[in-house]
Amino acid sequence: MPTVCLLLLLPLTMEGVLGRNRPFPAFLVTDTTLTHLAVHRVTGEVFVGAVNRVFKLAPNLTELRAHVTGPVEDNARCYPPPSMRVCTHRLAPVDNVNKLLLIDYAARRLVACGSIWQGICQFLRLDDLFKLGEPHHRKEHYLSGAQEPDSMAGVIVEQGQGPSKLFVGTAVDGKSEYFPTLSSRKLIRDEDSADMFSLVYQDEFVSSQIKIPSDTLSLYPAFDIYYIYGFVSASFVYFLTLQLDTQQTLLDTAGEKFFTSKIVRMCAGDSEFYSYVEFPIGCSWRGVEYRLVQSAHLAKPGLLLAQALGVPADEDVLFTIFSQGQKNRASPPRQTVLCLFTLSTINAHIRRRIQSCYRGEGTLALPWLLNKELPCINTVSSAASAGIAAPPSWGPPPSHPLPAFAPPQPASSPSLWAGALCSWAASRPACSSTHSQPAAPCSNSRVSLTVLSQQ
Ligand SMILES: *[C@@H]1O[C@H](CO)[C@@H](O)[C@H](O)[C@H]1NC(C)=O
Repeated sequence: MPTVCLLLLLPLTMEGVLGRNRPFPAFLVTDTTLTHLAVHRVTGEVFVGAVNRVFKLAPNLTELRAHVTGPVEDNARCYPPPSMRVCTHRLAPVDNVNKLLLIDYAARRLVACGSIWQGICQFLRLDDLFKLGEPHHRKEHYLSGAQEPDSMAGVIVEQGQGPSKLFVGTAVDGKSEYFPTLSSRKLIRDEDSADMFSLVYQDEFVSSQIKIPSDTLSLYPAFDIYYIYGFVSASFVYFLTLQLDTQQTLLDTAGEKFFTSKIVRMCAGDSEFYSYVEFPIGCSWRGVEYRLVQSAHLAKPGLLLAQALGVPADEDVLFTIFSQGQKNRASPPRQTVLCLFTLSTINAHIRRRIQSCYRGEGTLALPWLLNKELPCINTVSSAASAGIAAPPSWGPPPSHPLPAFAPPQPASSPSLWAGALCSWAASRPACSSTHSQPAAPCSNSRVSLTVLSQQ
């Protein structure tokens, strides 16, 4: 295995810059590959996910603990995993690739999800990485058997008294019948609870999940959604994804595959996923497009950068790395750019798109959902006279969660481009979900629209 190394670049003290060439602290491992990183917001301790290991490091990157997660006897074709039921496929020791590493502050534990046994998770005590639990006996415990480390992202949303929620997006590796691509699950305090990872909401019509339709996989067998990063800002949960650009790929006569990056947004309190919106995102630099998102981080800009960008210092800024072009997702071009987006810009774009959809412009623009590629319908004129936004005149088949509005995606001019940083600090739309209206899929978007039309 290659030698991998984690360098501590921050804080970059004046002494470090001007002083005696003190080397940066480093954490070196030779027998594994590092995949994910989580830094404790109070202690500065660093947790590192790796192949077959989870590490805990001091803020200066001294190794404090190592926890072994693999190899484990497994076979990716065993569903349910061999721990649950005798499997006819031959078992062999398999590497456990860490795919998700989150700090659950409320329960003072680490959630570390791997690739073995169809994607199960371990709960590790923050202090010493002691294994508190490893739920693996229900189908909800299997997040995805996909092996790639960069295919899953998650966000923990705490809710006062009730259990926290885990939003998790994942590639499904063709197994859309086993794994939703996006879901929100209960994160219970008790690691042994039978309810752990069960969907936040589920009735016979709707649930807190989105599945890739089997029709989509029949049409594009390679279709999948790779979740690169997830974060919370205000009352929204966001994900950055990479997915097959079905339209571009269809048009290419040489049969080459094209990919595109999207930003996905939904309301953190929306249990039925009605507020789901997705939006193409990318950068251009010197006339060249960069559309393959590789990595991202949400942070406050700090005073100098905020001034340079013309935004308040407490504005959320999304730092992103994109690779050039749209091809070769699996081994992307080395040419990359760092692009900054303010969340107010992203939200303003999404809001404009929701408004234009209510005016009947374009389609829902969810090409991978096939039958949901519906035209937008004008509901604004009737709403204006009634003083409320009218329900859209189309409705989803009740058994499917219907993502709400997403922007159109003309191949020539993708919609959200870095460089268009704008300084207007728009007030954030109200965010709520409506349990009582399962037939009206756009309740959240309508709330946003109503707020907007009054501004
Ligand atoms: C790094 O931090 C640990 C724990 O805080 C401490 O024990 C150790 O001496 C430090 N090492 C260096 C090189 O500063």
